[in-house]
Amino acid sequence: MTSKNRDLFISLYNKSSMFKGRKNEIKGLARLSTLVNSSLDIMDVLNNAMKYVEELMDAEASSIFEVDYDRNELFFRLARGKEGNKARQTRLSMGEGIAGQVAVEGKPLLVQDVYRNKHFARRIDKHTGFKTRSIICVPIKHKGRLIGVLEVLNKRCGPFNEEDLGILTVVSNQVGIAMENARLYQRLQEKFTLTADELKKTQQKLIQSERLADLGRLSQGVAHEVRNRITCIGGFARRLRQKFSAEDPACKYVDIILKETGRLEKVVLDVEAYSNLRKPMFREVNLEKLIKKAVEGWLQSRPDPGIQVHLDLPDGEITFPGDNSLLSLALANLFENARVAMREGGRLSISAQPKGREIIITVADTGSGIAQEDIPHIFDPFFSSKPQASGLGLTTVHRIVTEHNGDITVKSTPRQGTEFKIHLPIFPDDMQMSELEGSQTQ
Ligand SMILES: Nc1ncnc2c1ncn2[C@@H]1O[C@H](COP(=O)(O)OP(=O)(O)O)[C@@H](O)[C@H]1O
Ligand SMILES: [Mg+2]
Repeated sequence: MTSKNRDLFISLYNKSSMFKGRKNEIKGLARLSTLVNSSLDIMDVLNNAMKYVEELMDAEASSIFEVDYDRNELFFRLARGKEGNKARQTRLSMGEGIAGQVAVEGKPLLVQDVYRNKHFARRIDKHTGFKTRSIICVPIKHKGRLIGVLEVLNKRCGPFNEEDLGILTVVSNQVGIAMENARLYQRLQEKFTLTADELKKTQQKLIQSERLADLGRLSQGVAHEVRNRITCIGGFARRLRQKFSAEDPACKYVDIILKETGRLEKVVLDVEAYSNLRKPMFREVNLEKLIKKAVEGWLQSRPDPGIQVHLDLPDGEITFPGDNSLLSLALANLFENARVAMREGGRLSISAQPKGREIIITVADTGSGIAQEDIPHIFDPFFSSKPQASGLGLTTVHRIVTEHNGDITVKSTPRQGTEFKIHLPIFPDDMQMSELEGSQTQ
């Protein structure tokens, strides 16, 4: 089988046999393509192809490296031979070793004695215990782009030759197609998993918004019941306060009642405001105007917040579907939290930028930060670390962002600061139909 197959292959690239060996050529290609298509599992495919090559060349081992463009390295996709398992634990940087050199140059290399070649990376043999003598190595490309490197080691009978190079070139083309197909298939699978994850997330969001809607109705009822009574208690407490002189010990208790009713009144007002929050009315929102106006509006209500405000906005006009006044309210809540967290001064950085199909608005402060154990609760209704606050600010922000089909994330380090990121879809196609109902463009 070995010599027969070898003849088939030699005729694949031997131009003089173009006419004589057509039949053999086709048979050789057919055999290779049967091997490459023999399985849907990429590892089976690569293993079969390289096993075939080893047999054809009578070689001791072979490897396929793939390029990791993020790390600018080559890693073993496949390592066949006695010490293949150990070899797989190693990586090569681009340019390192014969394989690294082939990856950088994009051209094949035939090395009869690796110890005479300055590029040979001895460290892999040291790690595996394998003894490399000779290497034949070719790049694997797909549509002109380098995706990996293929090498065969230690030919048993004589040196590697031009014919071996030809065989390997044909194989590397087939392997390139198989690897690219596997990559596309993996991306398809990832996309599918992502879609399943997104479905789960949407379901959780729905449950959450249902809960919040329930809570909204309940709170509205409670707020209505409580509001009049609190106003009444506050009124009587103020009258009592007038009856006592400042030195009277009872005065201290009345002051506590006044302070607490004042706080309750604020909570009730906040609850009512939250319950009455309307659904977004989608229009075309100009990102720059939205942020500048939100900052101006907030600064007007807090003329001297005692902090530096820094804006970083993208060039050019960027628009997206949203509700200007609700988004301004969400931003103002974030600015206000940041101000309170920076009582001793600091820096509030607000930036916005489009990324892919979304807009990311970042609000970062250099304030007190949030304790790690509090982070899972900050969006919960009534969660607050402030004595006079209702803890509905971030719940409001979360609701507004979610109703825009967006997301909000937080990163915080105690005593260093907090960063909120709001992600909003740019394209109406990414919004759910129900969200666009009743929307208008200006
Ligand atoms: N920028 C921030 N820096 C530090 N802590 C924050 C920040 N934003 C929110 N928090 C924490 O999250 C809690 C909840 O915030 P929020 O819902 O706005 O309620 P409130 O401001 O009424 O307390 C705050 O009490 C605070 O502990
Ligand atoms: Mg707040």
